[in-house]
Amino acid sequence: MSQLVHLIAAARPNFMKVAPLYHALRRQDWCRVQIVHTGQHYDANMSDTFFHDLRLPEPDYHLGVGSGSHAEQTGGVMIAYGKVAAEARPDWIIVVGDVNSTLACCLVGAKLGLRTAHLEAGLRSRDRSMPEELNRIVTDQLSDLLWTPSADADANLLAEGIPIDRIECVGNIMIDSFEMMKPQIEERRMFASFDLVTGAYGVVTLHRPSNVDTPSILAVLVDELVTIGAKIPLIFPVHPRTRARLQAAGLLDRLVQAGIRLVDPLGYVDFMSLVINAGCVITDSGGVQEETTYVGIPCLTVRENTERPITVTDGTNRLVKAEGLHLAVEAALKDRGAMKRRPDLWDGQTAGRVVASMVRHNM
Ligand code: UD1
Ligand code: UDP
Repeated sequence: MSQLVHLIAAARPNFMKVAPLYHALRRQDWCRVQIVHTGQHYDANMSDTFFHDLRLPEPDYHLGVGSGSHAEQTGGVMIAYGKVAAEARPDWIIVVGDVNSTLACCLVGAKLGLRTAHLEAGLRSRDRSMPEELNRIVTDQLSDLLWTPSADADANLLAEGIPIDRIECVGNIMIDSFEMMKPQIEERRMFASFDLVTGAYGVVTLHRPSNVDTPSILAVLVDELVTIGAKIPLIFPVHPRTRARLQAAGLLDRLVQAGIRLVDPLGYVDFMSLVINAGCVITDSGGVQEETTYVGIPCLTVRENTERPITVTDGTNRLVKAEGLHLAVEAALKDRGAMKRRPDLWDGQTAGRVVASMVRHNM
């Protein structure tokens, strides 16, 4: 009998993790796959554009939960998905990443006794002030099956007492999206549309509360970006949280006057087209740390820790402080071309390994 699979999608970084698995599951005859969009991200440029770029169909369910406090958002998703899951009783609930909706849907599945699996399990920053770290810890404790991107994640789970038979290293699903879209990404040449020269510009993304929610910290970052912008052109697709904080702190104009190219959040193909041709990337994003390692572009991550240490040990990532960021950028630009190692199983084949794992667990 055909099994029902729910794939949970909620926020921008989820769509790149869901898409390759959706396409792989659609090719299976033993299951019927449905996409559940919780509505955590809802602006067209934070959601719809990715469905279009990644060739995803309209979600089967749209829960429309939207923004709010952590409690409102997590609780709202639980209430809405709780009804859907209780009625549909999927054979598999697959959650990805570490956003509030990931935890909420996992908790719903666990309480209903439905088989729940976490894709991108085992990452740990060891920083419990990060909302995502709490989401990761609880999601991994509750999920029946944990699909990890790398061996360090397996070790984290084992250290937390999770039995080894619940853990499978499948590799990095985001790389599947990159490989799937690579021809379009390479063809797009966004740098030309922005009058930029390959290798001679920086891409900036910032949205972590630890960087953007405190005006004094945000002001230091803006000062640094202005200094860097005087040396190389910077293009900065601004996350809605960050735009609101820059506006509230009166810092948006300072960036504009310094010639930093502020644009709305970009679609996946446009954004990755800028990344692969950049001299360096300045970010606090989780996914961007991985993508830059894969494509060999220097990445400066403005954070004190990372749940993705393999991007530092093996890849092109460096953790940096806001103060002195411009010096780190100078060093990174000199380092360009120093291609590091791509982690094992970051090869565009992760979705296939997840499907194989599901088939084994169905037996
Ligand atoms: C969320 C995730 C974070 C992830 C990020 C990816 C949690 C706790 N956080 O953070 O892990 O890295 O998404 O981008 O789950 N907003 C809009 N339009 C939208 C979405 C958000 O205007 O489509 C604004 C709202 O003012 C909202 C704010 O952005 O309050 C923050 O959105 P939210 O989803 O709560 O957190 P993110 O910072 O996006
Ligand atoms: N991304 C994008 N457009 C942008 C900024 C980021 O398509 O303007 C993509 C990026 O390539 C990566 C994902 O969004 O695939 C990362 O999402 P985000 O930084 O919002 O979340 P995080 O990974 O930090 O949770």
